[in-house]
Amino acid sequence: MALLDVEGLTKCFGGLKAVSNLSFQVNEGEILGLIGPNGAGKTTVFSLITGFVPPNEGKVLLEGKDIVGLKPYSIAHKGVARTFQIVKPFRKLTVLENVSLAAFLRHSARKEAEAEARRVLERVELIDKAASYASDLTLSEQKRLEIARALATNPKVLLLDEPMGGLNPTEIDHASILVRDICKSGVTIVWVEHVLKAIMNSCHRVIVIHHGEKIADMPPEQIVINPVVIEAYLGKKANSYKKGEPIC
Ligand SMILES: Nc1ncnc2c1ncn2[C@@H]1O[C@H](COP(=O)(O)OP(=O)(O)OP(=O)(O)O)[C@@H](O)[C@H]1O
Ligand SMILES: [Mg+2]
Repeated sequence: MALLDVEGLTKCFGGLKAVSNLSFQVNEGEILGLIGPNGAGKTTVFSLITGFVPPNEGKVLLEGKDIVGLKPYSIAHKGVARTFQIVKPFRKLTVLENVSLAAFLRHSARKEAEAEARRVLERVELIDKAASYASDLTLSEQKRLEIARALATNPKVLLLDEPMGGLNPTEIDHASILVRDICKSGVTIVWVEHVLKAIMNSCHRVIVIHHGEKIADMPPEQIVINPVVIEAYLGKKANSYKKGEPIC
């Protein structure tokens, strides 16, 4: 049984079908890439899985049980965490306070929540910034804080929405190592990203969506030579990837 099973998910915003009869499975222990052009529906898929917006049709099964209709808090409690494309820290709280708030999902005592937050901050290499205000972090640090907040809820599945957006090549390599380490620690990952190099180097499988529909579901090395994907999304990027040049 798949850890997460998305079946026939559809979401309309007025006359726009942002996600259209989308089905895919996420297997335990994998890093699944989710890519596609701007406006393809990637973030909406995450919002549907995590209960931030309700689908018009379809199911989301977590370990075989439908979670559609549950509140985001309950879905987080069942083990699905997400990060946001546009980082959303509490800017006037410290880094430690931001992560501790997330850790309260599983710890009722402040001391325990803070201890868990410190463990997560060590993991994402932000412990030195524990006392800093979130608003004082660099973009790269804010992206790691976003991951830390999600990790502090102790998820089974982590949905990452463009954790590399706006980062330089060194920061991208650093963040890729972190994503792979999180997977190795037993967290299954679905990863939305426009930085193709990072997806190609880290994902076991990649799904491509276009106009809310799935157009490919295959290993990364097949994605870059797939004519439908090249036509819809990759274009010249695919050629540079095949030549071995970095794609950012
Ligand atoms: N709350 C909303 N109300 C109306 N339309 C929306 C809403 N959220 C998303 N959309 C529309 O749905 C479509 C899919 O948006 P979505 O943000 O999921 O795309 P995306 O694949 O994440 O794009 P990007 O790569 O730019 O982040 C877009 O046309 C967007 O304008
Ligand atoms: Mg998006």
